[in-house]
Amino acid sequence: MTLTFIHGGTVVSATGSQLLDVLVDGETIAAVVQPGSTALGADLFAAADAVIDATGKYVIPGGVDGHTHMQMPFGGTEASDTFETGTRAAAWGGTTTIVDFVVQTPGQRLQDTLGAWHQKADGECAVDYGFHQIIGEVNDESLKGMSELVSEGVTSFKLFMAYPGVFYSTDGQILRAMQSAADLGALLMMHAENGIAIDVLVEQAIARGDTAPYFHGTSRPWQMEEEATHRAIMLAQLTGAPLYVVHVSAKQALEQIATARGNGQNVFGETCPQYLYLSLEEQLGAGFLDGTGGFEGAKWVCSTPLRSRAEGHQDELWRYLRTGDVTTVSTDHCPFCMKDQKDMGIGDFSKIPNGIGGVEHRMDLMFQGVKSGRISLERWVEVCCTTPARMFGMYPRKGVISPGADADIVVYDPAGHTSIGLGKTHHMNMDYSAYEGFEIDGHVDTVLSRGRVIIDGGAYLGSAGHGRFVKRELSQNLI
Ligand code: URP
Ligand code: ZN
Ligand code: ZN
Ligand code: ZN
Repeated sequence: MTLTFIHGGTVVSATGSQLLDVLVDGETIAAVVQPGSTALGADLFAAADAVIDATGKYVIPGGVDGHTHMQMPFGGTEASDTFETGTRAAAWGGTTTIVDFVVQTPGQRLQDTLGAWHQKADGECAVDYGFHQIIGEVNDESLKGMSELVSEGVTSFKLFMAYPGVFYSTDGQILRAMQSAADLGALLMMHAENGIAIDVLVEQAIARGDTAPYFHGTSRPWQMEEEATHRAIMLAQLTGAPLYVVHVSAKQALEQIATARGNGQNVFGETCPQYLYLSLEEQLGAGFLDGTGGFEGAKWVCSTPLRSRAEGHQDELWRYLRTGDVTTVSTDHCPFCMKDQKDMGIGDFSKIPNGIGGVEHRMDLMFQGVKSGRISLERWVEVCCTTPARMFGMYPRKGVISPGADADIVVYDPAGHTSIGLGKTHHMNMDYSAYEGFEIDGHVDTVLSRGRVIIDGGAYLGSAGHGRFVKRELSQNLI
């Protein structure tokens, strides 16, 4: 077994930060000790096969990104990162576990779709991965299939109130799936937008000639998100299902979540860096309303959409992140290239594949919240690492630096710097970055995945197939 000794750094957990040394034995953390300690009865420097000097740096649990879509079929194309390229990019960004979504489309058995996703990911991933299941067709067969999936380590299920004719579920179907989730103790994840009303607004916008990407956002106004979030909360309350509302971008939706939580309901809100940093005004700034037909705004087309900065959503999202009503920050990594993918929607925004890639940037972007004083160092680790691990049934194996946990560790240099430049300064399989021009204070220096150094000194040292499937437990004591 290889012994790795990480010394001199500040170990950050969700509850505190301390100068501590970490001993890794093979794939797991063997000990977390006071500097200079001989608690293990040996000189750890001498005993170790490899020594990592973390002086002046933070030693944090590897990031857990609870919401990604590698090579997801969507909008007539497929998300541009494969499990191989996407998990490698995750590693570069200090994320050592992803939870991706298996997609069931109508007519398929849930169990078969899970098998198909295992085939896509097996042998390809640089870091560990789990699966959520999208239920695209709620029927007797799918509801029965849910318990089988739980026993195979897929313990959360996503439904859509958006995308009629694709993933959409009626309220009756949602009710039934929630009843099953409640029976199983499984987490019900919800894409909360009123898709029926949105489709009318989209049709009207296109008919008016408002076809530029900006109108994607204006045809999915916050009322559509607030209403659907409220409806999902009421259905969850009725059934007793724990509810996790994904990619929340409207402050009004978060107010609904905060109220439900205040009433003691098991409801959780997830947001993503794009909603904390980007806005509808960015799309306007890209200049396609000037009559030139510019299409740059497509880079930021995702659902829920980026919201207007002027409406004050971002400040509220940050506030809810501080108070705990935003429980996790995931990326909803769903990358599409501008060329041959996003450009399918030139002349009709409704044909732009929805999604933004960001799996590589989440830890860095959220660290900027620490730098600016919006969240604490510990909250950074909590929302990006510990809570997603706990929420999705992987704790204490993931999300914490503690004896017995998987040695998924990031050495983060707060004095380092990362520029997200034009073109290829990232490792995601995308021909642009949604965060072009962002200057990041901080740098992912070294990444260990189950004890193996996969990023160090600006080099990728991992390999496809190192990452393993994580069989997840049901989450407990969620609130
Ligand atoms: O625009 C998005 N969010 N694309 C990914 C699919 C989803 O709804 O999460
Ligand atoms: Zn969604
Ligand atoms: Zn998503
Ligand atoms: Zn550095």
